[in-house]
Amino acid sequence: MKLCFATNNQHKLEEVQAMLGDSFILTTLKEIGCEEEIPETHDTIPENSYEKAEFVWNNYAVNCFADDSGLEIEALDGAPGVHSAYYAGPQRDADDNMDLVIKNMTGKDNFNARFVAVITLVLDGKFYQFDGEIKGKIILEKRGTYGFGYNPIFIPEGHNRTFAEMTMEEKGGLSHRARAFAKLEEFLKNYTI
Ligand code: IMP
Repeated sequence: MKLCFATNNQHKLEEVQAMLGDSFILTTLKEIGCEEEIPETHDTIPENSYEKAEFVWNNYAVNCFADDSGLEIEALDGAPGVHSAYYAGPQRDADDNMDLVIKNMTGKDNFNARFVAVITLVLDGKFYQFDGEIKGKIILEKRGTYGFGYNPIFIPEGHNRTFAEMTMEEKGGLSHRARAFAKLEEFLKNYTI
C-alpha cells in the first residue's frame, strides 16, 4: 500500500521512515505535488491532525496520514501544548521555544511533562485517529544534539538521558509518535487482510 505522510517536517519524516516495515511505501508531500503550507487552525492536537489529513485528501485525493504533536508541561497548565512549534513566536525556533520553557519553569518544583501525538489516517475518504504519549520530566538546561524541537530538555520516564542524547532508533522505540504509529501499523495490518 502507498501512503503519503503529510508533513513538511524533515525530522518527523526521517523518524517515521525509520519505523516503517515493508508493509507500505511512504511518499512525501513533494512527491504528490503539494508544496504549500498545510493549515493548522484549531486549538487542539486531534483537530489539527485531522485538518492536515483532510486538507491533503480534499486537495490531492491520495491516501495519507498526518500527525500533530506537542509537549504538555503540568506546571505550565499544559503549555506549550498545541502551540509547541511556535511557543516563543512565529519564527518557530526550537532554541527560543526551549529558552521560554526554561524561563517559565524557573522556580517551579513540578517538572512532569508529556509529549503527545495524534495521527490521522485517511483511507479512501474514511478517517481514523491513533494517539500516543510518553511521560517524562523537563530539565532546565539543554542536553544533547539529536533530533528536533524540545528533545534537549525532555527526559523520558525510566531514563536518565534526554531525547536529544538518544539515537533516532532509541527514541523511535519509545516516543509518542512511535506509539501512535505502532497503532496505525497494527490497524493497517488488519485492514489489508
Ligand atoms: P507540529 O508539527 O505542529 O506537530 O509541531 C509539533 C511541535 O511540537 C514541534 O515543532 C516540536 O516543537 C514539538 N515536538 C513534537 N514532537 C516532538 C519530539 O518528538 N521531540 C521534540 N519536540 C517535539
